[in-house]
Amino acid sequence: MALHLATHQNPKTPKHPNTHRSSFIVHRLTTLLAIESSCDDTAAAVIRDGEVLSNCVAGQAVHEQYGGVVPEVASRAHQINIVPVVDQAMRMAGVTKAELDAVAFTRGPGLMGSLIVGVSFAKALALSLDIPLLEVNHLQAHVLAHFAEQRKPEFPYLCLTVSGGHTQIMLVRHFDDMEILGATLDDAAGEAFDKSGKLLGLGYPAGPIIDKLAREGQARFTFPEPSIEGFNYSFSGLKTAILYFLQRETKANPDFIAQNLPDICASIQHTIIHILLNKLKRAARKTGIKHVALAGGVSANSGLRAAFTALGEKEGWTTYIPAFEYCTDNAGMIGITGYYQFLAGKFSTQDVAPVM
Ligand code: KG4
Ligand code: ZN
Repeated sequence: MALHLATHQNPKTPKHPNTHRSSFIVHRLTTLLAIESSCDDTAAAVIRDGEVLSNCVAGQAVHEQYGGVVPEVASRAHQINIVPVVDQAMRMAGVTKAELDAVAFTRGPGLMGSLIVGVSFAKALALSLDIPLLEVNHLQAHVLAHFAEQRKPEFPYLCLTVSGGHTQIMLVRHFDDMEILGATLDDAAGEAFDKSGKLLGLGYPAGPIIDKLAREGQARFTFPEPSIEGFNYSFSGLKTAILYFLQRETKANPDFIAQNLPDICASIQHTIIHILLNKLKRAARKTGIKHVALAGGVSANSGLRAAFTALGEKEGWTTYIPAFEYCTDNAGMIGITGYYQFLAGKFSTQDVAPVM
């Protein structure tokens, strides 16, 4: 086991079997297990000194048939998946339970039933191993997922988090110093993709399907964009506009959707991207911040990535988009966030409960 010299050790660091003290402070590398169960992905990761050794996810395809995540079904699937996923993450990292220094977990926000499974598992494991707990905010973790990469963002940076549950622009001054500049007032960007896809008769989640179809189409249909003050977003009006547009067109031509699907998808995608990036650009100009990042499942969208990169070049930004495995819900980002909390000595007690 590698050892390294630390210039300091946080006095609040709890005593546990893996900590060695001598006349000068020596400790082993910090090894964390991280658990994420806020929505429909059961995820576990092992992080050693800020480096992700393994990052495992068990998805829940069971929700596809319902066209969206069913909370009760998600909780039950987490209960089934959590032990095998943790085992897999430990095996892939080549780490034993005795080597763990702490357990990081998503405390919220998310679906209550889903969170309870991950939180209870983390508490039980930490208790049995006599190691500390690190509670992590899911949204902060998306924003810090960039630190799982070799190329890490410079502080301060702006992060646009776009997923099925969230859309927000965060100003990140430091690991534990963040401010939400704007967020969606209703639907998230991922929901805008998924609900539009539902209207078009596409499968769930529709985001990746719309992305693929949009590559073959032209954005020749226009939809009204919301005018919301500040850096907040709204996507519910777009969904209604798309519904009325499709009702009108299919009344005149019942085959309208089948005959124009790639163009419709390109138009919807173009509108969502324009709404997202317009606010981000304004936030960057207002704050003068030139380091700008994307996070969340929707940042997998090829059109968004290309438009974000192009905008960054035009505005003189240094841009960051994490690898796909760190964009969607994952435990790697929970472990990375937990690692910085470990260094700061921010531990949770056994009476911690999930927060929606
Ligand atoms: O971050 P994520 O995995 O889970 C949440 O926290 O919600 O994001 C899932 C969302 C879904 O709405 C899905 O449709 C969307 O990300 N998504 C995409 C793409 N890949 C995933 N949306 C547009 N284009 C994509 N390529
Ligand atoms: Zn998420």
